[in-house]
Amino acid sequence: MSPLAVLCVLCGLFQAPALSEVGTRGCKPRKSVPFDNGSIKLFREKGVWDYSTMLLREDLGLLFLGGREAVFVLDIRDISSKKTQVYWQVTDEKQIECTYKGKNAETECRNYIRVLHKVDDDRMYVCGTNAFSPTCGHMTYAKGRLTLEETLEEGKGKCPFDPVQRHSSIMIDGDLYSATSMNFLGSEPVVLRSSLIAIRTEFKSTWLNEPVFVHMDLVRESEGSSEGDDDKVYMFFSENAVEYDFPNKLMVSRVAARLQGGLGWSADTAEEPSLPYMIQDVFLLQHSDWRKSIFYAVFTPQSGSADLSAVCAYSVTAIGDVFSKGRYKTPVTVETSHVKWVMYSGELPVPRPGACINNAARKQGIKYSLDLPDKTLQFVRDRPLMDEAVQPLNGGPQLLKRGPMFTRIAVDRVTALDGHSYDVMFIGTENGFVQKAVNYDGEMFIIEEVQLLQHPEPIKTLRLSAVTGQLYAGSETAAVQMALSDCGRYSSCLDCVLARDPYCAWQPTAALCTAVSSTHNSNRTLIQSLIDGNASLCPSSEGVSPESYTLIPGNNIRLQCQPDSNLAEVRWFFNDQPLRPSDAKYFLYGEGIMILNASAADSGLYVCQAVERVKGRQYPRTLAAYQLQPGEGDPELPPTETPSTEAPPTKSTTETPSTTPKLLDVGPTFLALSSNEHGKLIAMQVSVALLSLLLVALLTWNVFQGNLPFLGCYGARPQTSSGPGQTQSSPPNFNSRQVPFQAKVSAERKLLVTPSNCNTSNNHFSEELTSNHNLPPGAVSSLDVFKYINDESEI
Ligand SMILES: *[C@@H]1O[C@H](CO)[C@@H](O)[C@H](O)[C@H]1NC(C)=O
Ligand SMILES: *[C@@H]1O[C@H](CO)[C@@H](O)[C@H](O)[C@H]1NC(C)=O
Ligand SMILES: *[C@@H]1O[C@H](CO)[C@@H](O)[C@H](O)[C@H]1NC(C)=O
Ligand SMILES: *[C@@H]1O[C@H](CO)[C@@H](O)[C@H](O)[C@H]1NC(C)=O
Repeated sequence: MSPLAVLCVLCGLFQAPALSEVGTRGCKPRKSVPFDNGSIKLFREKGVWDYSTMLLREDLGLLFLGGREAVFVLDIRDISSKKTQVYWQVTDEKQIECTYKGKNAETECRNYIRVLHKVDDDRMYVCGTNAFSPTCGHMTYAKGRLTLEETLEEGKGKCPFDPVQRHSSIMIDGDLYSATSMNFLGSEPVVLRSSLIAIRTEFKSTWLNEPVFVHMDLVRESEGSSEGDDDKVYMFFSENAVEYDFPNKLMVSRVAARLQGGLGWSADTAEEPSLPYMIQDVFLLQHSDWRKSIFYAVFTPQSGSADLSAVCAYSVTAIGDVFSKGRYKTPVTVETSHVKWVMYSGELPVPRPGACINNAARKQGIKYSLDLPDKTLQFVRDRPLMDEAVQPLNGGPQLLKRGPMFTRIAVDRVTALDGHSYDVMFIGTENGFVQKAVNYDGEMFIIEEVQLLQHPEPIKTLRLSAVTGQLYAGSETAAVQMALSDCGRYSSCLDCVLARDPYCAWQPTAALCTAVSSTHNSNRTLIQSLIDGNASLCPSSEGVSPESYTLIPGNNIRLQCQPDSNLAEVRWFFNDQPLRPSDAKYFLYGEGIMILNASAADSGLYVCQAVERVKGRQYPRTLAAYQLQPGEGDPELPPTETPSTEAPPTKSTTETPSTTPKLLDVGPTFLALSSNEHGKLIAMQVSVALLSLLLVALLTWNVFQGNLPFLGCYGARPQTSSGPGQTQSSPPNFNSRQVPFQAKVSAERKLLVTPSNCNTSNNHFSEELTSNHNLPPGAVSSLDVFKYINDESEI
């Protein structure tokens, strides 16, 4: 870290240009686990909705679950077991008052629990929307009872008014950091630090432009730091980008950081400027050495046309490096009102903006942001953008998937048999599934998808407990718990090894797929191959003895064969000859094959084989075999074996064959044999800027020329894939497609805020604001911003 600077005004550009091929394989989960199968446990209570606020207390073995007008205490090992609860309902007066303001009495004018944090061993801090009148208080859990303490307090700025508005908060050493909206309309964003002991509000900010707050987390950067770095609170959000010269409303994703120790606020902003991508959730994968901690973030397109979600990972140190060492951009006026940003090559002030207060800075007498010389502050205000880009880990997304949008993420780091650690991502989707995925050296692999909710609805909360090995998910209608791994789901050695699940390995002696952790000592005998997916050590599977049936001419005959992997290709053999699905006589569908209008010539041996391909190797496995013996077409001739109900291979109907064969059971589920989903390229860029929160102001925007190249989501941008007939994109030229997205930095500082600052440096901003048709009524104008800061920022 370079010396100096209290305000970490770090700006940078995050880029995730990575595009890798999203083939059908890379996107398709290997297994699909339907609802209610496996080890899912569910909690819901009649009349209660919105199970979206969770506080895991592994120390107490409890999960505190906040819903609508209730907080439940559940057993962390089995959340269907409820210990106790507290109801916290709105009063009739509040509800009526709320409906007078035009809100819905039954949905909006209720008390939605939104904040639930541990204060000390048996106390928690809790806030609810309370019919658009946010209110906070303490809860005590003692002797198996949960109580809401009587003294309640104003929750404005800590908890949203509107239950559907996103917000974020975190409790650190007795201080509540919250990012939410301050007013009824939800138009006045605020980032607040409130001490619960001494009632004191340290910081408010209005440099945000219609932000959607996503996540806050703490990185203990002071630990083991020889340079005396401060802890930092990172805040992730997206907001309306006024800095781009773009005709429509454009949201960008950012990360901001605040120095935890001193007075200085600073914020790095990670932007994800590509048009369609917005940050949805963030998970901090903590490492005992904070430098190895990683932020995992979920992005989804902001336009409805694309359906590709992404996960990117950013290392904490990579961000810091850009902030402390990156170069700046400076604005140049091109036409009278047109501003272009170019790299700044002039002198940097001392202390350098963008570095944090550390020991070297302290030696120079700089302890707080306020001590920074005006020269540094002014520099930041004029040139808030960094020129450099920060790469996400591996230079690209960890995962890309088409289909239902990702909503939430949690990540677990697992030590596998090979002694290496793998980050297993659990990603909630908008239709109630969790995708369990790993990135193996750049290869995206979805181990399985688990349907957690019976009906499609978004996963709103995910919590992961490595202690219990469980994942907890919350939604509108229920809270659900699933095990991080269920090795018993893998039924054979091939299934177990090809699953490439870091939690599981095959134990040949017991012929079982077992959890790796429970068998640490005897790993020599276990089979696991994560990176290679090499299952050649698996004992060769035994043959399958054929079931025999009588063939009745003229019938349609259904033979079942369902592979246990979505990645396996099913092959049928008839009398040892490969059977061609292209033959009109056969219908290949999800659960087997149908022989249409069978004749005596169709009698013989049918064998079904599933072939899974991993890295060019093939692993065939025989799943079923059927021997069809010619019959007379006489319905009274019984089959040689009674067909089981599960696999009725013959349809003994007395009808004469109609002219069109019946496809009664086939339905729309024909196996797609080939896929057009060849790889497409996606470029994703995320830029980062640091907003100094102590400083106040929106200084910049930038203009960029031409189209917003973005990230491309394939399918969303015609120029990246030239047409439906052309499925293979040309090799990605990432550099040429990288847009110089600049990060916006707001330099905010009470002392510097004067009306003249506002008028001189923010002309464009206010014009832009007022000319923006999309601004909702009540959105802050730049003048409001400054007035607000002058009035309310206190230190
Ligand atoms: C799994 O699903 C099947 C069929 O839907 C059902 O019979 C079985 O009981 C389920 N297993 C569990 C553990 O829920
Ligand atoms: C067994 O596990 C240990 C540590 O977990 C590892 O060092 C060793 O290489 C493993 N042995 C085999 C054969 O994988
Ligand atoms: C797969 O594993 C076997 C046994 O360890 C080894 O002999 C073989 O070379 C491996 N194949 C590949 C392609 O790595
Ligand atoms: C069924 O097969 C028989 C003989 O192979 C043929 O005469 C008949 O037309 C076929 N029916 C249909 C609907 O194709």
